[in-house]
Amino acid sequence: MSTTLTPVLTRFWDAPESWTLDTYVKNEGYEALRKALALKPADLVSTAKDSGLRGRGGAGFPMGMKWGFLPPDDGGPRYLVVNADESEPGTCKDIPLLMAAPHTLLEGVAITSYAIGCHHAFIYLRGEVVHVYRRLLKAVQEAYAAGHLGQNIHGSGFDLDVTVHAGAGAYICGEETALLDSLEGRRGQPRAKPPFPAVAGLYARPTVINNVESIASVPAIVLHGSDWFKSMGTEKSTGFGIFSLSGHITRPGQYEAPLGITMRELIDMAGGIRGGKKLKFWTPGGSSTPLFTDAHLDIPLTFDDVAAAGSMLGTRALQVFDETVCVVRAVDRWTDFYKHESCGKCTPCREGTWWLKQILGRLEHGQGSEEDLDKLLDICDNILGRSFCALADGATSSITSSLQYFRDEYVAHLTQGGCPFDRAASTLFARENLSA
Ligand SMILES: Cc1cc2nc3c(=O)[nH]c(=O)nc-3n(C[C@H](O)[C@H](O)[C@H](O)COP(=O)(O)O)c2cc1C
Ligand code: SF4
Repeated sequence: MSTTLTPVLTRFWDAPESWTLDTYVKNEGYEALRKALALKPADLVSTAKDSGLRGRGGAGFPMGMKWGFLPPDDGGPRYLVVNADESEPGTCKDIPLLMAAPHTLLEGVAITSYAIGCHHAFIYLRGEVVHVYRRLLKAVQEAYAAGHLGQNIHGSGFDLDVTVHAGAGAYICGEETALLDSLEGRRGQPRAKPPFPAVAGLYARPTVINNVESIASVPAIVLHGSDWFKSMGTEKSTGFGIFSLSGHITRPGQYEAPLGITMRELIDMAGGIRGGKKLKFWTPGGSSTPLFTDAHLDIPLTFDDVAAAGSMLGTRALQVFDETVCVVRAVDRWTDFYKHESCGKCTPCREGTWWLKQILGRLEHGQGSEEDLDKLLDICDNILGRSFCALADGATSSITSSLQYFRDEYVAHLTQGGCPFDRAASTLFARENLSA
């Protein structure tokens, strides 16, 4: 556990024009690339493996091991694809990183590409964030002009082109194989695996797909070494990560800290629950991770500890909900999102999320019966682990966990014939109050 922040990726976000190449270079920018290009690619893969860095996009797969899965060079192209789709409710770390310090990602892209033998990398960005798209394009332009991308980078003989692709705004396109289909110009739906992207990914060629924060962590690891990285965090969850605090918290924002910090420590740093209210529930890693309550405040936020307590570290999207929030309403809203974003490829998710939404909508308005609560659990049971991709599993998380911790609140909707919460007092309903 730690009570200190470890600003590495966020270190100069407050600097004037932090997004420009000038500011980046003043903050050791592209020095790691210079160092990397003097090393053998295999040494960089070893450094990544040795650092223990686990992917920051949600699943926590060891990054160096993923790079090591690529088959031996056969003379054909191989690709790096950066997943910048960031569309999960609550998840909000990659877009701030791209706005504040896009060159951190680009330097990571150049080093990773050199390490895996890629000469054309792609950044797949969520399409709605046009301001981020523009900023990223500008940064790519600056990097080309300064010789950090393009032909013969830093005189090393290594060539790399980078394409920034704006998606069309579908959550499923963050799933890595749906992303690849979308990038190839097809409808974004997950592919059957195997073959895994390392063997047949983009254009059926060997491909590494990593999250923005994973790749942006590479320059610091190369510059300072894997031991430095491992000196933060825990044995199995090494290093630092961006924890995004949102919702009913006094100072919401990005808190970069070692993995293993607790929610209690983060809430203290962020000035406590807003308005002196009490915490009711929170998500450790976005809307697809089972809810936690105030009983979970001292769990070290590592991959293994959060999993052992029944949830997932996910994207460290810590959404905080105070005592004024109706948990049934919050879960109903999340479920509406999953129903809308289901790509329709498989039946348990396509049909199941629709029925979950119907039942939750009824319950929130005090209609239905206690049997509906068991029906919700039964449908979740038929979705979890039986669907084609993890979108559907995520759709069940808030439902099963809220029934585990707040079943009485569901029942109260039925016995009172409607929501027992004062909508005017809850900021969750703020938009509805405005339009009322
Ligand atoms: C529905 C769905 C949406 C996802 N969205 C994202 C996303 O926006 N960004 C991301 O990095 N990973 C996302 N993932 C996880 C990716 O499939 C993949 O695990 C990740 O990009 C790998 O990068 P990492 O190893 O660096 O974490 C999503 C997965 C699912 C099932
Ligand atoms: S689980 Fe849902 S999102 Fe995933 S493939 Fe099936 S229908 Fe599509």
